[in-house]
Amino acid sequence: MSNIRGRFKKPEDKLVAAYSASLSFDRRLYQYDIAGSIAHAGMLAKQGIITASEARTIISGLTAIRKEIEQGKFEFKTELEDIHMAVEARLIEKVGEVGGKLHTARSRNDQIALDIRLFTKEAISNTVAGIKELQRALVDLAQANKDVVMPGYTHLQPAQPVLLAHHLLAYFEMFQRDAGRFGDALGRADVMPLGSGALAGVAYDIDRDAVARALGFKELSRNSLDAVADRDFVLEYEAAAAICMMHLSRLAEELILWSSAEFGFIEIDDAYAHGSSIMPQKKNPDVAELARGKTGRVYGHLMALLTVMKGLPLAYNSDMQEDKEGFFDAVDTLLDTLKVFAGMVKTMKVNAANAAKALERGYLLATDLADYLAGKGEAFRTAHDIVARLVSSAVAQGKTLSELSLAEYKKFSPLFGRDVFKISVASSLAARDVAGGTAPKRVARALAKARGIIEGK
Ligand code: ARG
Repeated sequence: MSNIRGRFKKPEDKLVAAYSASLSFDRRLYQYDIAGSIAHAGMLAKQGIITASEARTIISGLTAIRKEIEQGKFEFKTELEDIHMAVEARLIEKVGEVGGKLHTARSRNDQIALDIRLFTKEAISNTVAGIKELQRALVDLAQANKDVVMPGYTHLQPAQPVLLAHHLLAYFEMFQRDAGRFGDALGRADVMPLGSGALAGVAYDIDRDAVARALGFKELSRNSLDAVADRDFVLEYEAAAAICMMHLSRLAEELILWSSAEFGFIEIDDAYAHGSSIMPQKKNPDVAELARGKTGRVYGHLMALLTVMKGLPLAYNSDMQEDKEGFFDAVDTLLDTLKVFAGMVKTMKVNAANAAKALERGYLLATDLADYLAGKGEAFRTAHDIVARLVSSAVAQGKTLSELSLAEYKKFSPLFGRDVFKISVASSLAARDVAGGTAPKRVARALAKARGIIEGK
């Protein structure tokens, strides 16, 4: 049974013990918990709150416990409730009553806040690294296929020609914003809460700065009530994760579409696809579908924690123990998704011929025709109307725009001349020579810039 029952006359109900325990999931925080305790014990000794020899005993006990956990020799007893109690109980078992001095000038409330902050900082750095890997894969794929042209879409209708590289770099930008969001969140997670005690601060002459330095924190929390009641940094991670998963899900959707027989722009590598148990011809883009599906649960974790936090009076409340499982799952899901996507993007094959064929089907140069008339003095709105009628006539005849004769063009506007046949996919791309546009020379520069960002230049 949990050992904080000094004031109670009855043992804890068995079901209640199981209901309250968080050890099954917060054991994952052991290394942060132990690191925090080691820093705390060292500081207590420096301040003369415990003796140097007591600190040495405590620290070597904690180090041994860390080893036990890492070697799978530590017994996690649910009745000890959480990772803090489990480590402390084992410490006292190993080194005797002096182990009980570790909890001087500390509460589980500031201890858990510390542990999750340390976990969050590491999660953020792993996430940013995962994002970078995927960005690198996107840039590599774009570079290897830098001349491939495909239809760009709006409303999922073929709209205008774009370079595949331009399309892929759009995702690079999304992931770059994601990395920025995680970086911003890091600044607010990087705050050391120990010293807040249960809620009011502690009644000892501690050195919070020393603890912050030992644990690599940039700042100290400035209000003890806030420090133990704050889970904004978890919410910020989850919010950034939800947005990042939304981006991954959009990419997933495109890969699913592009790998279909109808599009055929890419082929997903065998290592990243599954077959069907009944239809032998099938190659399913399961990885992308699963990522699209898993996005839902990451959104769910954000909503769950926002809901947990919304009615809580200051300071710590047990409701907050519900922060962890969803958070851990959000981190794991995002990291795994980033990793598989990097591999999937790296290995997929682009079918340039199919992308080119799709360009012929969609009257994608219609805007260029309108621009052509506008260039000859027609108001753009009128030019748009003329080309709309021209396209509808071509559709009725089952012809592409390049199959119409000059005489047919002239029926719609006398401004059309021989040079109308110079309009091509290449001229359409080259014309979009604005910052951020799909003109090949702009995209080449954007690619180089993206490469520089990944390489940290
Ligand atoms: N297991 C708790 C949590 O996850 C740690 C803090 C417990 N504090 C307390 N007073 N019950 O939030």
